[in-house]
Amino acid sequence: MLFNTAYIIICINLFGFSLLSEKILYKSIGLKFSYPLEKEKVAAIQGMDFEIPEKSFVTISGPSGSGKSTLLNLLGLIEPVQEGKLFLLGQEIGRMSEKEKNRVRRYQVGFIFQQFHLFPILTAEENIQYFLTRQTLPKQEVAARTKEALELVGLWEHRKKRPSELSGGQKQRVAIARALAKQPEVIIGDEPTASLDQKNGKGVMEILKEFVERGKTVILTTHDSMVQSFGDMNLHLVDGRIEGGGNVVLA
Ligand SMILES: Nc1ncnc2c1ncn2[C@@H]1O[C@H](COP(=O)(O)OP(=O)(O)OP(=O)(O)O)[C@@H](O)[C@H]1O
Ligand SMILES: [Mg+2]
Repeated sequence: MLFNTAYIIICINLFGFSLLSEKILYKSIGLKFSYPLEKEKVAAIQGMDFEIPEKSFVTISGPSGSGKSTLLNLLGLIEPVQEGKLFLLGQEIGRMSEKEKNRVRRYQVGFIFQQFHLFPILTAEENIQYFLTRQTLPKQEVAARTKEALELVGLWEHRKKRPSELSGGQKQRVAIARALAKQPEVIIGDEPTASLDQKNGKGVMEILKEFVERGKTVILTTHDSMVQSFGDMNLHLVDGRIEGGGNVVLA
C-alpha cells in the first residue's frame, strides 16, 4: 500500500514537472565564430554561454560590429557552428546532417533579414507562398496563411506588387509576414523594425508579442529602446561577448 502511494506521488510529480517545466530552445557552450579575412581572421563571436527557454521574447543590443547579426546567423543555421556547442531543443546543431538542418530552416525558424531578401520577380503574395509551398502544405492552407499574414501586417491590398513597387517599410513588413506565415517555433529578426516608422514599428512588435503569447519564441537585434521594451530579456553584446559574461540563463 505504502509502495503504491509513493509510486503514485512520484508519477504525479514527474507528470506535473514535465507539464510545468519550460524547455530550453537554445543553449550555447563556449560558442565562437570568426570570419576569414585575407590571411587574418575576424573574431565576431568570442565565447558565449547562454540558455534561451521556449516562449521567450529576447532582444539583442550592442554597438555596430559587436556580433549581433553573426549570433542570429548561428541561431538561424545560416552560418555553421565553428567552435563550441549550440543546441536547438537539445539537439546539437553542429552534429545535424544537412537534411536535418534544412528541415529546421524550413519548418522551425522564421528569419527576417536586415536586407529583407525578397525575390524581386515575385509579388508580395508570391514571396510568401514560395516558402510555404516548400513546406509542402495544401494549396488552400498556403492561400489562407498568406492572406492572414498579409492582413496582419496591413499589406493585403498591396499583395500584387513586386518589391520594386513597395517602400522600404512595406518590404520589411512582407518579410515579417513571410516569417509569420511559416508558423515556425522561433522568429529571428535582424533589426526587423529599422525601416518602419514608430507606429508601424509598434504594430509589428504587438504582432510578435502575440506570437510569443501563443507559446513561440522571438529573438531580435535592435538599437531601438521601444523594441527592447517588448523583450523579457536583453542580451547586450560587446566585442563578440555578452556583457557581464558568465552563463546567461534567460527566464
Ligand atoms: N562577411 C564578413 N566577413 C568578414 N568580417 C565580417 C563579415 N560579417 C561581419 N564581419 C565582422 O564581424 C564582426 C561582427 O559583425 P556583425 O555583422 O555580427 O555585427 P553587428 O553587431 O550585427 O553590427 P551592426 O549593428 O552594424 O549590424 C564585425 O567586426 C564585422 O566587421
Ligand atoms: Mg548587424
